[in-house]
Amino acid sequence: MSDLSSSHEEVGRRKFLSGIIGVVAGLVTTVVGLPAIGFLISPGVKRQTQEMWLPLGPLAGLTPGAPTGFPFSRKIKDGWVESTQTGVAYAVTHDGQNVKVFSNVCTHLNCRVVWNDEKRGFFCPCHDALFGVNGEVVAGPPPRPLDQFETRIENGQIQIKLEA
Ligand code: FES
Repeated sequence: MSDLSSSHEEVGRRKFLSGIIGVVAGLVTTVVGLPAIGFLISPGVKRQTQEMWLPLGPLAGLTPGAPTGFPFSRKIKDGWVESTQTGVAYAVTHDGQNVKVFSNVCTHLNCRVVWNDEKRGFFCPCHDALFGVNGEVVAGPPPRPLDQFETRIENGQIQIKLEA
């Protein structure tokens, strides 16, 4: 009878110890594994906000009242997806000191506008829209002026802020 009781105690102790080992192993796996899983999948679920100041060119190179187009392109990484943003930024100064920089994306349906010297405006060929030298809508269906980039001058160079 005492052998049987001792055997029951042995089995109970083994079950208890293996239970404790299982719990500890589970905790270790959780503590080590969750951050690793988070690290692996985070680029795919997290949108990375990227902002940068892109140099366009010297402010002194602009002719007052005549917009100058600066083509640009940059890579954007959104999770695992990489794309290239391209465009033309039109810089305009009237006094040689202050500058406004406009996007060339039409605010109607996103066609690309181009500066037209004869019309003295940014022309959109898709629906014959015209924006004035300050980006305002002069003719056509666009609901609002051209978008402007946030702009700064660093060491005489025009820079625009790009965000993704
Ligand atoms: S897209 Fe420019 S006027 Fe329609």
